[in-house]
Amino acid sequence: MSTTRAIYPGSFDPVTNGHLDVIQRASSLFDELIVGISVNIEKNPMFTLDERLEMLTESCRPFDNVVVDSFDGMLVRYAETRNCKAIVKGLRAISDFEFEFVMALMNRKMDPSIETVFMMTSAEYSYISSSIVKEVAGLGGDIEGLVPSIVMEYLGKRLTER
Ligand code: PNS
Repeated sequence: MSTTRAIYPGSFDPVTNGHLDVIQRASSLFDELIVGISVNIEKNPMFTLDERLEMLTESCRPFDNVVVDSFDGMLVRYAETRNCKAIVKGLRAISDFEFEFVMALMNRKMDPSIETVFMMTSAEYSYISSSIVKEVAGLGGDIEGLVPSIVMEYLGKRLTER
């Protein structure tokens, strides 16, 4: 029997409960799910790659068929090397769609054998993004329930270092 493997890519700077909601849904749909952190130096992340890997690995511990990894460069090339059949993307609102649509078509152009699968996040997480979580935390707001506990710790530490 063949294994259907998918990749859920992102910056995960940091992982939020919205991401985990998509990871949980995708992990029940595919045999194996790779959560792939894109190493994009242009984005000037708050957390190093190692920190993001640690936060994600800890947060994905409950999911037996989820593996956390990182990749540099083109997503489809990495997906090919890991034999992924699908790219999973989370959609929160219509505003996400336009950009995701372009990326999905470009990825299909580069490798028509890999399908992009869009998953809706739960309504309770539909307004959460890594950027808004960082902004609210930076302004002293309460982000309890929006990110996993390990991210609360990392954010707390990072903000006191400033
Ligand atoms: O969490 P993000 O920042 O919205 O994730 C964006 C990501 C990493 C999925 C996207 O930028 C990506 O796929 N980067 C890898 C480089 C690549 O393949 N670019 C061409 C996309 S059509």
